[in-house]
Amino acid sequence: MTDDLISENHEKLLIIDFGSQVTQLIARRVRESGVYCEVHPYNRADAAFIDEFDPKAIILSGSPHSTHWDNSPRADESVFTRGLPILGICYGEQTMCAQLGGAVEASDDREFGRADITLVEESPLFEGFGPIGHEERVWMSHGDRVSALPPGFKVIATSGHAPFAAIADEDRKFYGVQFHPEVVHTPRGAALLKNFTHTIAGLKGDWSMKSFKDEAIMKIRAQVGDKKVICGLSGGVDSSVVAVLLHEAIGDQLTCVFVDTGLMRLGEADEVVNLFREHYNIPLVHADEEALFLGALDGIDDPEKKRKTIGKLFIDVFEAKAKEAGGADFLAQGTLYPDVIESVSFDGGPSVTIKSHHNVGGLPERMNMKLVEPLRELFKDEVRALGRELGLPEAFVGRHPFPGPGLAIRIPGAVSKEKADILRKADAIYIDEIRKEGLYDKIWQAFSVLLPVRTVGVMGDERTYDHVLALRAVTSVDGMTADYYPFEHDFLGRVATRIINECRGVNRVVYDVTSKPPGTIEWE
Ligand code: XMP
Repeated sequence: MTDDLISENHEKLLIIDFGSQVTQLIARRVRESGVYCEVHPYNRADAAFIDEFDPKAIILSGSPHSTHWDNSPRADESVFTRGLPILGICYGEQTMCAQLGGAVEASDDREFGRADITLVEESPLFEGFGPIGHEERVWMSHGDRVSALPPGFKVIATSGHAPFAAIADEDRKFYGVQFHPEVVHTPRGAALLKNFTHTIAGLKGDWSMKSFKDEAIMKIRAQVGDKKVICGLSGGVDSSVVAVLLHEAIGDQLTCVFVDTGLMRLGEADEVVNLFREHYNIPLVHADEEALFLGALDGIDDPEKKRKTIGKLFIDVFEAKAKEAGGADFLAQGTLYPDVIESVSFDGGPSVTIKSHHNVGGLPERMNMKLVEPLRELFKDEVRALGRELGLPEAFVGRHPFPGPGLAIRIPGAVSKEKADILRKADAIYIDEIRKEGLYDKIWQAFSVLLPVRTVGVMGDERTYDHVLALRAVTSVDGMTADYYPFEHDFLGRVATRIINECRGVNRVVYDVTSKPPGTIEWE
């Protein structure tokens, strides 16, 4: 489960997950401070597992459960007898109290959102925060609260509705906080977590992208030996990083296949081919299959049918090209850590089907290939950091996500080359304006959708009857939930004018202000 090289070379922290929506954020914050950590569900983190994992400290996550419900999750009892520093967050604090002889009660004064806590005792957990009496802004989200402390604990911070907002048993190095230091709404949450990992647990913070890169290269060499690897390039961040990392590790044993579906963004195919073939000198098969894909999509307007048609063709083309290139023993995939966590979470976690297009599903069995997944331990922002470490240009590393089925799911209704060309052009203008405004990196994903609706307009003295284009821009942490981006009206007006002036075929532009949920990010 845990990598041998990581175990040999780095101190590790274990996060025991009780099912909170934000457990992954704990891991991200801890890793940002240079400490390697992994998230494991509570019902798999038994004594034997923890022995083998050999953490130097443990964090207990939040949970949608309540400690006084029947069968609510508990940490393995051995967690508390190992002499390891422990931080319980929200439910993690409550279960620690319940398991160690304190009490938890449902509270009438539920707290959701911003709150201020007051420091009431000196503690290394709040080192650098301020003197006793200092007030600190935090993010709360709880119904239950601790009502009696276990033996050995004291209160180190309080809030209006949570008298036990932060507690400590300094001798055993057990800490609990009712609030969520892992979310950005707790402005100094990262500093608090670092106080726990570095000051209290004495972890050195020996995890960096440089060390990850070197170890990943050793691992790939050990796994692959002198065999051949094939990698599907999409132009997205994950597959680009996988390709460059593999190339550093095994050179020309790697062949990349870029399936150009004709549903890519403006100039994207050329950029991919130039970068990988010309700049990195990576053997690259460029399968220009626009006619094949658009032909197969002709007349199909059902979103699921479109996705399935593209997915199947993609695999067929990839397989054919891989065979032409002499076949391979391994298929490289850009599986990320959130996918790994979801697949082992105790209650199934969020749907993973959304991501199935990341992977060239079914091919490993069909072609009898094994998998190389060098990004399995990384979060998306760490993949970007690794990309920078590998010298990938910022234009690739910072690029917004792009779905496997490409522009087909941004053209509701039947897809055609003419529509794809209009959409490509309009989208390039939109993204250009976003970049000029300095907003590109503040937005998780921005794109245009060409609607199957025509409206009447007037340009000069002419009547027009053309498509409506919808603009979409969202902020998000992981694509699972999203908010629409609040552009200034002037900006939207400028983009609309440019698109209508420069893009024949569009005479009206609208902006999508739907969050996810209830909407999804893509329109199909
Ligand atoms: P939705 O539309 O489900 O999208 O809110 C969430 C994120 O996933 C991307 N997405 C896909 N990515 N293959 C992919 O590789 C797909 O079929 C696919 N569908 C959606 C979407 O762009 C957003 O970032």
